Amino acid sequence: MGSDQISGKGTAGAYSQAFNESIQDPQSFWARAAQEVTWSKTWDRVLDDKNPPFYQWFQGAELNTCYNAVDAQILSGRGDQVAVIYDSPVTDTIKKFTYSELKERVAKIAGMLKGMGVEKGDRVIVYMPMIPEALMAMLACARLGAIHSVVFGGFAARELAVRIDDAKPKVILSASCGIEGKKIVYYKPLLDEAIDTATSKPQKCVIFQRPQATADLVAGRDLDWVETEAKATPADCVTVKATDPLYILYTSGTTGIPKGVVRDNGGHAVALKWSMKHIYGINPGEVWWAASDVGWVVGHSYIVYAPLLMGATTILYEGKPVGTPDPGAFWRVISQHNVKALFTAPTAFRAIKREDPNGEFLKKYDISCFQTLFLAGERTDPDTLYWAMDLLKVPVIDHWWQTETGWAITANFRGLELFPVKAGSATMPVPGYDVKIIQPDSGKELPANEQGVIGIKLPLPPGTLPTLFQNDEKFKESYMSAYPGYYFTGDGGYVDGDGYVYIMGRVDDVINVAGHRLSTGAMEEIVARHPDVAECAVIGAEDQLKGQVPVGFFVLKAGVSRDPSEIAGELVQMVRKDIGPLACFKSAALVERLPKTRSGKILRGTMRKIADGQEYKVPSTIEDPTSLDVIQEAARKIGYGTKK
Ligand code: COA
Ligand code: AMP
Repeated sequence: MGSDQISGKGTAGAYSQAFNESIQDPQSFWARAAQEVTWSKTWDRVLDDKNPPFYQWFQGAELNTCYNAVDAQILSGRGDQVAVIYDSPVTDTIKKFTYSELKERVAKIAGMLKGMGVEKGDRVIVYMPMIPEALMAMLACARLGAIHSVVFGGFAARELAVRIDDAKPKVILSASCGIEGKKIVYYKPLLDEAIDTATSKPQKCVIFQRPQATADLVAGRDLDWVETEAKATPADCVTVKATDPLYILYTSGTTGIPKGVVRDNGGHAVALKWSMKHIYGINPGEVWWAASDVGWVVGHSYIVYAPLLMGATTILYEGKPVGTPDPGAFWRVISQHNVKALFTAPTAFRAIKREDPNGEFLKKYDISCFQTLFLAGERTDPDTLYWAMDLLKVPVIDHWWQTETGWAITANFRGLELFPVKAGSATMPVPGYDVKIIQPDSGKELPANEQGVIGIKLPLPPGTLPTLFQNDEKFKESYMSAYPGYYFTGDGGYVDGDGYVYIMGRVDDVINVAGHRLSTGAMEEIVARHPDVAECAVIGAEDQLKGQVPVGFFVLKAGVSRDPSEIAGELVQMVRKDIGPLACFKSAALVERLPKTRSGKILRGTMRKIADGQEYKVPSTIEDPTSLDVIQEAARKIGYGTKK
């Protein structure tokens, strides 16, 4: 274990000074951080707080995010420095792009979009695997002031269709296929099906044909990427307002309708650049790796924007922690590319630990360049934390954040002040985030060590969501109404006497499967559509590898006498077809009835405890206590209900 794991390190007091200023005088704090960004016009007001809960950072300012991430780096002498390393064990490819090469491609792709009529404010959906063109597509949209909406490749056609209908893109950028380990995932049929289903139709689709699969193009609508890019005239950066949207990223809420989280340009650039230095300790010219996917917020912020805004080198990895080809994959990448810090989800480390518990594969590589491991997406369990610390002998930092915030809410600070690690805690609130624990019924703030829901006192710092796409009402309803004056995170937890924050999990119907955020409500809507199902409940049960997996319980309509296991199989297929394989919905059990309160609310919390084999209290509001025994028995039949 590194000694700074035990004692903490950095400039003592630097954190409290930064944090206190960020809360007491946020305008001065963020105005200073904003000096690091190149603006076309500076702001009239650092923070416009006249219309709460809608806040605008850097009002009146103008900039271009792509200019900051690419062009400005070249102007400051980084033209020949590698900006992006594409490392793809699944195609046996390593390709490097300097900042100058990146600019050339991004400007051409922007020109290609411009040639199709894409202008500032237009939406472009990016439904792509982890290839350099995905990152370039995002930057190309930013260059034009167009709003990208990246949809994760593991989502099925229906999920894509819902996003098309909400974002109404002028153009969709996609590829013929993704490669998942040894499996080829054909994107184009999913794209075609989504466009058929959606009411809003894109004018054009541009398809990147990969050598592993050639997609059929629809005449008049689809264009070949390479041909179209080759013919394009490079496009310049279009100046946008700091408060104009850079992107929309859809995330799971409690229903089947995902929420379109909006990210603005100015606050985003300021916050990400600040975080790169102070949280992650990364300086210009250093190599940084976020092993995620551009389809998730981690990918947006830390594969694409933050490292490039910082002038660092970012790694785009098309592979898995295990199986591509072995559990030494991460150590190989770190060693080969001189990676200073890695950011991934705990589940990736659990996968490596499971296949190589003694770290034998690490012995093959020199990773002396490596200084910090950052984990997020779900709570880091103490076993995995200690295993990683013992193996890597560097600080392992669990930090907590959400699609909505776009960057960490709590963290440890590699570039500011490193606090001793406490297992199970995501450390301290990040400057800018006034984290409070709230008593759910009274809405009052709770003292140290008492558990409640987690709120963040408004205003949120720059870079966080200003609203939901074209839906201010839903924004207010989802995040701002439960506890007026606070942003409601949807997570529960507590703060200990030393100020460390502990995240205890979601208090709503959102679950995290292998670091992927999913809605059990959305799965319930699909299961309930089965003609034989009367009602159902889907809960997130503990899983040793993926953290949580969804498990369904269904009640049949009267008179249905079909084999329940056949029906369960159909439900599994329906969820896979409608949401996608990433849902990992693999278990469903027939029950005679669901446990409910006397007012008819399904007791999902108690069901979850039963599935996890935890102690539970029979709720006083329960209509029929024997319904819990029914769940217990059904859970056992499908391999749940006992303590793992
Ligand atoms: N496109 C298409 N399909 C995808 C996909 C993508 N981009 N990503 C995942 N899938 C599919 C997988 O192929 C798998 O399909 P299957 O049911 O047919 O096998 C399914 O979705 C589940 O994928 P996953 O959860 O990734 O499971 P896995 O067993 O393939 O791998 C881990 C397990 C732990 C190795 C993997 O989840 C992992 O690397 N996790 C890291 C988490 C992460 O990056 N989180 C992002 C937030 S930081
Ligand atoms: P997403 O929006 O997909 O990034 O998911 C955000 C959710 O993931 C949060 O609301 C938490 O429930 C969970 N999460 C993210 N990071 C952590 C963490 N470090 N510890 C516990 N939960 C986390």
